[in-house]
Amino acid sequence: MSGDILKTLNANLWDADPELWELIKKEKGRQVNGLEMIASENFTTLPVLQCLSSCLHNKYSEGLPGQRLFSVVLRGNEYIDQVEILAQKRSLEAFNLDPEKWGVNVQPYSGSPANLAVYTGVVEPHGRIMGLDLPDGGHLTHGFFTPTKKISATSIFFESMPYKVNPETGLIDYDKLLYSARVFRPKIIIAGVSCYSRALDYKRFREICDEVGAYLFSDMAHISGLVAAGVTPSPFEYSDIVSTTTHKSLRGPRAGVIFFRKGVRSVNAKGEKTLYDLESRINQAVFPGLQGGPHNNTIAAIATAMKATKTPEFVSYAKQIVANAARLSDGLLSKGYKVVTGGTEVHMLLLDLRSVGLTGAKGEYILEEIQIACNKNTVPGDKSALNPSGIRLGTPALTTRGLVEKDIDQVVEFIDRGLKLAKEISAKSGPKLTEFKKAVHENEEFAKKVAALRDEVVKFSNAFPLPGYPEY
Ligand SMILES: Cc1ncc(COP(=O)(O)O)c(C=O)c1O
Repeated sequence: MSGDILKTLNANLWDADPELWELIKKEKGRQVNGLEMIASENFTTLPVLQCLSSCLHNKYSEGLPGQRLFSVVLRGNEYIDQVEILAQKRSLEAFNLDPEKWGVNVQPYSGSPANLAVYTGVVEPHGRIMGLDLPDGGHLTHGFFTPTKKISATSIFFESMPYKVNPETGLIDYDKLLYSARVFRPKIIIAGVSCYSRALDYKRFREICDEVGAYLFSDMAHISGLVAAGVTPSPFEYSDIVSTTTHKSLRGPRAGVIFFRKGVRSVNAKGEKTLYDLESRINQAVFPGLQGGPHNNTIAAIATAMKATKTPEFVSYAKQIVANAARLSDGLLSKGYKVVTGGTEVHMLLLDLRSVGLTGAKGEYILEEIQIACNKNTVPGDKSALNPSGIRLGTPALTTRGLVEKDIDQVVEFIDRGLKLAKEISAKSGPKLTEFKKAVHENEEFAKKVAALRDEVVKFSNAFPLPGYPEY
C-alpha cells in the first residue's frame, strides 16, 4: 500500500500532468529560441533551481533563526535555522558588509514586498516618501500614482512625491530633488531605478537626505549583481537601508532581501549618540507585519546565489554585462538611433524611437515577433505614459548565455533590421497599433520578411546554451 502511494506521489511531472508539462516545455523552447533582452530578467543557475525544488520547501519557520515561536513554538527548525543564517552571512559577505554595522533580512518574498516592508517598518501610516517617478525610470513601489489614481500600495498607504529626470538630458535632476525635498520633508528618499542607464550619485542623495533629515533607502534591485562584483558604485557607503531583488543581475532566485544599518546613527554636539533602530522595525515589518512563513527553499537559493557572487567567474560575468551593454549602445548609436542619456554605464539602455518615427509599442511588438524580448518604456519628455516612445534593452540574460561583444554586434544587426522592417510596415499600415499588428501577419510580403528574420534570430540564439535543466 505505502509503495503504491509513493509511486503516485513520486510520478514525474511529465507522467502526472502531461498538459502542464507541455506548457513548461514550450516556455523552455521560447527561452532557448529567442534573445532575452528584458533588463530585469536572467537565467538562474542549476544550484539555485535545485534549492528551489528541494525539501526545504516543506517547512514552516515563522520568525527569525532561534526565535521561531510567534504563534506556536515551531519545532524542527535546527537545519532551517542554519540555512537562513548561512543566507544572511553570505548576503553580507557578497557586499563586503561588516556584521557589526549592517544586518539583513532574507525573508521578503520578492522586491515589492521588501520595499513595502521598509516603508511599513520605518514610515508611519501616511508618512512621506520620495522616489523617482515611474515614467522617468523609477519603480511602482517607489510611490507611484497617476493624476487620477493611486496605483501602488506604496502611494495608497504612504504619501509620495516623485522626483524627475531632466527632460533634455535624461539625467536625474538632483537640484530639483533637493528643492522638493526641502518643501515635502520626506521620511525616506529612495535611490533606485528600473530604467536608468547611469550610475546613481549616492553621495549627492546622502547630502540631500542629511539636509532634510530623511533616511536614504537605496533599491539596487536591477544592479545588485554589478554591485557585488564591484563594477558599479555601491550604495552601501551612503545608505541607511538597501533592498534588492535577487533574480535580476544577481542571477539568484525570485526573492527580495533588505539590508539595514545597525549601531550609531549620529552623534550630537555634546557627544551624545543616537542609535539606529532599523533592525527590529524592519524585521517586524517583514514578519509578522506583512508576511507569514518564510520560503525556505528560496532562502537556500539566495544563500547559494550569494556565494556564487564571490567567484572570479561571477566578476567576469558582471564585467561582461556592462561591456555588452556598452557595445549595444555604441552599435545602435552608430546606426543613427538615439540612446537616452547618450549611452550606458550599467546593464541596460533606453532607446528613443521618436527619432526613427516608431512608437515603443510597435518597436516592442516587431522585436517580439522576431524572438527578441524587450519592453516598451517611456522616454524623458513623453506626453503619455500609455503611449511610450522607447524600448528598454538589457544584457544580463544574454551575457549568462555567453554572448560577448562580437555577438552583440550581430544582435544590433537584428534589432536594426527588425526596426527598419517595422518602419516599412508602419508606413503602409498607418499609426494605429492594431492595424500595424494586422499588417505584420496578414500582409503576405511583410509576414514573409518577419518570418525570415525570425528564423535567423532563432538559429543564432540556439548556438548559446542556457543554464538549468536541459528540458525544462
Ligand atoms: C527597482 C526595482 N525595485 C523593485 C522591484 C520589484 O521586484 P519584484 O518584481 O520582485 O516584486 C523591481 C522589479 O522590477 C525593480 O526594478
